[in-house]
Amino acid sequence: MSKKGKIFLLDDEELISDVLLRALRNEGYEVMKENETDGVEEKIMAWDADILLLDISMPGRSGMEILKEIISRNLQTQVIMLTADDTAESAVAAMKIGAVDYITKPFDMDEVKIVVGNILEKQELKKEVSFLRKAYADSMEREFIGESKAVKEIKTTVEKMAQAKVGSILVTGESGTGKEVIARHIHQLMFGLDSSRYAPFVTVNCAAMPEALLESELFGHEKGAFTDSKTLKKGLFEEAKGGTILLDEISEMKLSLQSKLLRVLEERTVRRIGGNQEIKVNVTVIATSNVNLIEAVGKGNFRQDLFFRLSPFYLYLPPLRERKSDIPLLLDYYLAHFTNKYHKNTVKGFSPEAERLLINYHWPGNVRELKNLLERFVVLENNEIIRPEHLPHWVSAQEVIASGPVGGRYILPESGISLDDVERDLIIQALEKSNQNMAQAAKLLNITYDSFRYQLKKFGLK
Ligand SMILES: Nc1ncnc2c1ncn2[C@@H]1O[C@H](COP(=O)(O)OP(=O)(O)OP(=O)(O)O)[C@@H](O)[C@H]1O
Ligand SMILES: [Mg+2]
Repeated sequence: MSKKGKIFLLDDEELISDVLLRALRNEGYEVMKENETDGVEEKIMAWDADILLLDISMPGRSGMEILKEIISRNLQTQVIMLTADDTAESAVAAMKIGAVDYITKPFDMDEVKIVVGNILEKQELKKEVSFLRKAYADSMEREFIGESKAVKEIKTTVEKMAQAKVGSILVTGESGTGKEVIARHIHQLMFGLDSSRYAPFVTVNCAAMPEALLESELFGHEKGAFTDSKTLKKGLFEEAKGGTILLDEISEMKLSLQSKLLRVLEERTVRRIGGNQEIKVNVTVIATSNVNLIEAVGKGNFRQDLFFRLSPFYLYLPPLRERKSDIPLLLDYYLAHFTNKYHKNTVKGFSPEAERLLINYHWPGNVRELKNLLERFVVLENNEIIRPEHLPHWVSAQEVIASGPVGGRYILPESGISLDDVERDLIIQALEKSNQNMAQAAKLLNITYDSFRYQLKKFGLK
């Protein structure tokens, strides 16, 4: 059994440290023992200990003094104090300075194992979280690729908003149009990337949580605010102080919570659940929505006052099919991006016909769909040049249908086309248009109900 974790023991009582050493090694930890206090900080640093078990009273330098030194050096090492007195007073003092826990002698070995295990587990989780945060941030584009007129306008607008440090921004657009990318871009413009002070960027998906949980996530709660709130918890607004909070899918927020959010936007303060103190929060709020908020207001699902509060600085990201000139740029960008990411450079580019098909395609999933397609090409394609026959069938089928008859005829692409794909796509579209009503769908295709059902079976759609 091998566990991760390096534990440094510093105790002048040989007997005690021997027992600890053996027990912890038996648990699978790496353990180092020392009883000399002089210059011990260097040894701890050099060995890169995860945990220091530190005796509070030793001849020579006291444990407290060493603890202060360790804390002042801002090491990763977490300190657990070993105290002989059961008054626990000195232990409490040590924890105020920065020790994470204490163990009173004579100790129960099981207790030691539990304390050590818990601390290492927490440390591990922290590392994991910061790793994942970083990986996620890396995977997100901060640069908004595009040169179309619409994108150019968005970029200038965004620069002005960032310069003025506006307090709230609403970003709308279909799924995959880059709402989060633009939000991160704004954050970067406002707070810089390499600023010495770290400006947090916090995202909350308003659709992902039940209302009560979302409320306590956003605003935090005091200790004892409700039955299982054993500790005080800061809300995400507080966490985002001095930076940006991204409220994703704001349209999904319940009305009662919307009014609390409105208050925060107006007062620029939050009150934790169960608390009565107003806490100033200087944050930029960016809200996103892929549904039409004006319609949502009309239906009574979104508060009009909140909409007015958010809407002075709004950005609309048009779908990719409405800014086709960005498509070649994005194709190049993501081809290079994934070539680099996977160290695989089989695919060099697109044939003119394939590029034309990709430009004409309607991209229902917008940039996300394009990005995913490019990732697939780079990883799986064996040909240097992507030709129409390498494209997913729906891309080519789409075109024949979308182009409609020209001079009374549908245009057959050079590369040919599967009639089945065209049929299947039209059937799916008819179902979508008719809200899955088969009779209506059949009418749209000018076929009988029975043959429509036959077609569904044939294509495995029913
Ligand atoms: N203009 C762009 N330049 C480069 N990459 C982009 C651009 N727009 C979107 N992307 C990429 O497309 C993917 C989807 O973008 P993003 O998550 O910002 O979309 P969204 O509008 O927030 O979608 P949803 O509504 O589904 O959350 C991301 O991987 C992002 O990196
Ligand atoms: Mg998003």
